[in-house]
Amino acid sequence: RREPLVLGIETSCDETGVGIVRGTTLLSNTIASSMDEHARYGGVVPEVAARAHLEAIGPAIEAALSEAQIELADLDAVAVTSGPGLAGALMVGIGAAKALAISLGKPLYAVNHLVGHVGADVLDATGGPGHPIELPTIALLVSGGHTSLLHVRDLTGDVELLGETIDDAAGEAFDKVARVLGLPYPGGPQIDRAAVGGDPAAIRFPRGLSLPKDLAAHRYDFSFSGLKTAVARWVERRTDAGEELPAADVAASFREAVVDVLVTKAVAACRDRDVPRLLLGGGVVANRRLREVAAERCAAAGIELRIPALSLCTDNGAMIAALGAQLIMAGHEPSSQGFGADSTLPVTEIQAV
Ligand code: KG4
Ligand code: ZN
Repeated sequence: RREPLVLGIETSCDETGVGIVRGTTLLSNTIASSMDEHARYGGVVPEVAARAHLEAIGPAIEAALSEAQIELADLDAVAVTSGPGLAGALMVGIGAAKALAISLGKPLYAVNHLVGHVGADVLDATGGPGHPIELPTIALLVSGGHTSLLHVRDLTGDVELLGETIDDAAGEAFDKVARVLGLPYPGGPQIDRAAVGGDPAAIRFPRGLSLPKDLAAHRYDFSFSGLKTAVARWVERRTDAGEELPAADVAASFREAVVDVLVTKAVAACRDRDVPRLLLGGGVVANRRLREVAAERCAAAGIELRIPALSLCTDNGAMIAALGAQLIMAGHEPSSQGFGADSTLPVTEIQAV
């Protein structure tokens, strides 16, 4: 059976992503980001993101088609993120996807953004043939908008949410602490740079939801707002005392606290569920220390660590197209035209109906 040619649209946050796949083969992956416009606010502003998507979506679709060297009429289906994410931002992608599907008379698949991150693993970023996803897997998704731990048994039918952040997302913590240290947005890469030469054990910052009493109810949940406050207090005390700030040590110690909790909980989930596989996704995967610690601890625990290319880890349209193609190949019916944006779409809803 011929592999479906699918165009995927992703607009849940600040990236306007349009990607095209044929089954598990990546044909194009176009991204327009409004990151620069959010930089002066120190974080993503929903209204600004929605307006930027509206301007970028048409050109992004054209660019994805020309990069893949296909015509709209060649498509077998359209896929789009229907949630979770920023409602206004999601609506722009959904509107475009519905219009495309209706005008082409092609089926439309409305998919879950988080499951899309997992679906990215079937693709080969260099455009090779890709591969079936290896299951079951635990997935740790870490970005500026989400921090979620999933148990994936069937990509198109059985995804369980094990835990998520109860306050800030991991990337958000990097962004906020960067601001405390006087570094620009987005904070992740800035902290990575500032931490060079720093001692990760210099300051013992708190590991959120890691004490025995917290683990009982929040074994797989995360909390980063206490950590952010702890760093802010520590910096404030030093500054008030007129002491010079050991910025590299603060950055390295903060980063270590985030990475330690993320990897500890992910590895615990692999052990508890007897799943020897961990998949990482989301923009925070760019963090060098996260990759390092995950590699060390997974190797020690006999867990296979899978990290897609960074262009497939950050928000993109190709992962949404890939999940759409998986749904088609598994025989799922298309979504109706009646679905809307669901900013809190639960991960168990892989496809909106
Ligand atoms: O997935 P992404 O590009 O967009 C969404 O948030 O959905 O992730 C962006 C987030 C930002 O919060 C940014 O600070 C963080 O990922 N990030 C990093 C690094 N690079 C980007 N966090 C830690 N270390 C990095 N090197
Ligand atoms: Zn994401």
